[in-house]
Amino acid sequence: MTDLNTLKKDIANQVAAANDLQELDAVRVAAIGKKGSVSALMKTLGKMDPEERKTQGPLLNALKNEVAALIDEAEDALKAKELEQRLAQETVDISLDTRPQAMGTIHPISQTMDELVSIFGAMGFSVAEGPDIEDDWHNFTALNFPPGHPAREMQDTFFLPDDERAQGEHAKKLLRTHTSSVQIRHMQENSAPIKTICFGRTYRSDWDMTHTPMFHQMECLYIDEIGKVTMAHLKGCLQDFVRAFFKIDDLPVRFRPSFFPFVEPGAEVDIGYYKQGEGIKLGKAPEGQEQKWMEILGSGMVHPNVLKNCDIDPEKYQGFAFGMGLERATMLKYGIPDLRTFFDSDVRWLAHYGFTPLDRPNSATGS
Ligand code: PHE
Repeated sequence: MTDLNTLKKDIANQVAAANDLQELDAVRVAAIGKKGSVSALMKTLGKMDPEERKTQGPLLNALKNEVAALIDEAEDALKAKELEQRLAQETVDISLDTRPQAMGTIHPISQTMDELVSIFGAMGFSVAEGPDIEDDWHNFTALNFPPGHPAREMQDTFFLPDDERAQGEHAKKLLRTHTSSVQIRHMQENSAPIKTICFGRTYRSDWDMTHTPMFHQMECLYIDEIGKVTMAHLKGCLQDFVRAFFKIDDLPVRFRPSFFPFVEPGAEVDIGYYKQGEGIKLGKAPEGQEQKWMEILGSGMVHPNVLKNCDIDPEKYQGFAFGMGLERATMLKYGIPDLRTFFDSDVRWLAHYGFTPLDRPNSATGS
């Protein structure tokens, strides 16, 4: 029979010699682990005769409890020692600055949209939406593009596989080439008077310095009873808008007759600029300098056929529409030289040209 006192002393010595928690754990396993020395003694109880068990049982149990208590005590002491060491070693310099917090920026296109909402919101326009994936009817036919007419080729359309569930021109799917399709949907779903703008991605198969296959447009539509929304209103609205948008009170605005199947009459709108050194400057040319013009948007009085296609009676209603490319307007306003950089997702570009969320968009009231 192992001398319990000697065993206890042995284990106590091992516990005292353990320098860290790992060593202590090894002692624990060797003593009271499944195959430990104390556990082995406990197993002998089963084979003892009842008398012997009566005396040995309590002794062995006491030994096991004492050993466990010794180890727990040593563990607490070692943990306290480790913590003390860590506290002595680790230091925190509370005078250091906090880490800089990276803040994202608003993409210039989003900023422009916010500005347009602000300007047109102040004039009483609401915002409409429509899908990027359109059908031939909404993108062309309803907008008075005759079938097979070369006007359809004016826009390099991305066609998609036909929708087998739909009929005729509704089956022919495409990526919308302009936001004018949203006009159609909006007129179908709402009755006149209508006073909305909409924004969206538009797609044309084109890729060079000044064209990207995806770009953004803004569309404006104002329909009311005949006489209430005339070409004069279109001109006034556009002039106020471009002057508010570019923040140039006397920005020259010029209307040039042009053709779009969905308007009659149609006009392209130019804004004035002049040369300044290597670059250009928007605005009225100073005395003696040539006034130059650049096209900025397409506009016109909504064609009666378009109204008819949307179940609006052209004998009772008329109105105007215009559409503008957002990238070009944004480039001009903020002096961004290359269109393609809009879509590079380069954070350095965004950090330079982006806006902080607190930059307030301007409004028509000039405030
Ligand atoms: N949808 C035309 C385009 O993409 C722009 C436009 C809109 C012209 C509304 C007139 C009226 O070029």
